[in-house]
Amino acid sequence: MRLDDHNVVITAAGRDFGRALAITLADLGARVFLSARTLAAAERTRDDIRSRGTGKVHAFACDLTDPASISDFAHQVAAHTDHIDVLVNNAARYLEGEDLLAVSDQDVIDTLASGATGTILATKNFLPLLLRSVKPDIITMISTAGLPGHARSTAHDAFYSAKNAQAGFTEILSKRLRPQGVRVISLYPPDFDNADPLTPDWHTTPRGPKDPLTSQSLIDCILFAISQPRDCFIKAFHFEEPS
Ligand SMILES: NC(=O)c1ccc[n+]([C@@H]2O[C@H](COP(=O)([O-])OP(=O)(O)OC[C@H]3O[C@@H](n4cnc5c(N)ncnc54)[C@H](OP(=O)(O)O)[C@@H]3O)[C@@H](O)[C@H]2O)c1
Repeated sequence: MRLDDHNVVITAAGRDFGRALAITLADLGARVFLSARTLAAAERTRDDIRSRGTGKVHAFACDLTDPASISDFAHQVAAHTDHIDVLVNNAARYLEGEDLLAVSDQDVIDTLASGATGTILATKNFLPLLLRSVKPDIITMISTAGLPGHARSTAHDAFYSAKNAQAGFTEILSKRLRPQGVRVISLYPPDFDNADPLTPDWHTTPRGPKDPLTSQSLIDCILFAISQPRDCFIKAFHFEEPS
């Protein structure tokens, strides 16, 4: 599969899943507009991609808790291109702990602001560029923590709330953007193995039926969804958790 005619925006690509996705999509020929909370982190991923010879990559700072930063990111991307084909809402601050009282008010605010408000504002700011694409897709990395009644994670209540907000947002957005041909594709993974593509682990991570889900498999899901004909609106990916 090649993505030479795809302009892709990815948030939080400075490390972990967002970085793995950015490197993989760039390797497949996509032009990648990646952001991280700090410009330095985004530029590290950009430089790693460039050193592989793909070249079509741009790095930006974007703090999802800051509406002005999100708007700046979208404006800077718009200075490079008149459209984007794929927006990947990957960023969300993780907050650990089952005790509501154990975290600060600021932790709660930042967790909701990055995962919930940040996802909505990133989508709002990039929607005009998506609507100029002939193949617009919005991918959102949610979590099993965004599923009704889920309680297996030790994540904090605020993280559960952020993920449930993302789920509610993408659910209604999928219906409302369907007439305009925008596919809203959500992934609800349990904890997954997050190898870096530039380490040997990427090639040796076990991917058998008894192994945890991998970022490689999640990237395969995203590639599958965006490569479908435009009548195929895959809405969500769900995964059976290990018992
Ligand atoms: N890993 C899992 O097992 C798992 C399971 C289910 C769902 N997910 C979801 O999948 C996505 C990627 O997971 P991951 O494990 O790669 O995430 P992660 O390791 O927890 O990293 C979170 C990313 O979000 C960024 N971030 C945090 N606050 C931000 C803010 N205010 N503005 C911009 N970026 C911010 C972080 O940037 P910094 O480097 O600056 O902190 C980091 O790049 C997330 O949405 C996560 O909730 C992950």
